[in-house]
Amino acid sequence: MLNVTALRAQFPALHIPRDGVTPIFLDGPAGTQVPERVLDAMVHYLTRCNANHDGVFASSVESDRILDSAHAAMANLLNAPSPDEIIFGQNMTSLTLHLSRSIARMLRPDDEVMVSRLDHDANVTPWVLAARDAGATVRWIDLNPGDASLDIVSFRRQLSKRTKLVAVGLASNGLGTINPAATITREAKTVGAWVFVDAVHYAPHGPIDVQELGCDFLACSAYKFFGPHVGVLWGRRELLESILAYKIRPAPDALPGKWMTGTQNHEGLAGVAAAIDYLASVSPSPPQEKGSGVRDGPTRREQLTRSMTAIQHYERTLSRRLLAGVAERPRFTVWGVRDVNQLERRVPTIAITDAKLSPRQLAEFLAARHIYAWHGNMYALEVSEHLGLEAGGGFVRLGMVHYNTPDEIDCVLAALDELP
Ligand SMILES: Cc1ncc(COP(=O)(O)O)c(C=O)c1O
Repeated sequence: MLNVTALRAQFPALHIPRDGVTPIFLDGPAGTQVPERVLDAMVHYLTRCNANHDGVFASSVESDRILDSAHAAMANLLNAPSPDEIIFGQNMTSLTLHLSRSIARMLRPDDEVMVSRLDHDANVTPWVLAARDAGATVRWIDLNPGDASLDIVSFRRQLSKRTKLVAVGLASNGLGTINPAATITREAKTVGAWVFVDAVHYAPHGPIDVQELGCDFLACSAYKFFGPHVGVLWGRRELLESILAYKIRPAPDALPGKWMTGTQNHEGLAGVAAAIDYLASVSPSPPQEKGSGVRDGPTRREQLTRSMTAIQHYERTLSRRLLAGVAERPRFTVWGVRDVNQLERRVPTIAITDAKLSPRQLAEFLAARHIYAWHGNMYALEVSEHLGLEAGGGFVRLGMVHYNTPDEIDCVLAALDELP
């Protein structure tokens, strides 16, 4: 499994006490802490090669080499066929709004776009606005009663030749549910629809393979997977090349520059490459025997798949522990998949409400003990409304990643026992 102690040692923020207490970071879904090598890469960039793109002098040449390495690393993380299909930008929301403007031009009043009631609004409103601008119709994938997972029957019922785009998340940032995105993609393709996948929440929790998934676009954000605040969009080459991009004249027509508006966050991109190298190092392959001569060492993609799979397994042990602990405390309700025998249907993001305290009061109670957790709707607006939680202030999200430990979960459960 993972050597979590050794991994945690690489994250300076995890060890900085506040009021003499080491905080417990359960706020990862809103942004994870970063390992030292990300900080080093960003400082190195700003110290040694801080320059704009495409110059002929040494710092610019070195800067471009680092930017290229970020595209290559990101292509490895997503198994994209080519680094120039990787578009960087300010964040997922901006990239999605930007692309949706271009797609809106291509929609016709007879067309339909499908969004889900489980998604973060960044994968809903851009498409609703695109449909509105084109006079097209919006269809909603509904939720199952009970665990509020995506209702695949509702998707199938509404899918038709009119569907031009389906927008779906890989995992819910509200409830942690993993969506059947591969099934949805496969079926959407039978009617020729494009599929836009929001992988922001899923990315720190498991392997992603855009080629296996078969989608057309996939977006994520490096600050959710141990990197800095940078957004990422992958698109199928022929679409990125053929769709008209809103861009200024001197900007390149070729990929990836066509879609990357203005000067990028270069030091951030240096940090993205370092974050991906960190992920690749999380579960190192056993050393090959010298002279076995069969093949070279594993590729970074192979290492990433290995690491992300190990992370997935480890995180299930965290989910199991927290779900079981909360279940023993009847004043709390867990929203979403709560069955510890169905952990493959969720990432370790656990939404709870308390019978006595509001979500804000509960988050404040935890914050006073330096347990950091978010309250509210997390911009997963539709599901918060669907569950009837919106009026009461949403829910509290206990969001774990692989640097969290079983001991931390025990501390959280002990804190919950101290509630008034
Ligand atoms: C599932 C999901 N999608 C989209 C976003 C928006 O990402 P960004 O902050 O990069 O715009 C978030 C942010 O929390 C998210 O959790």
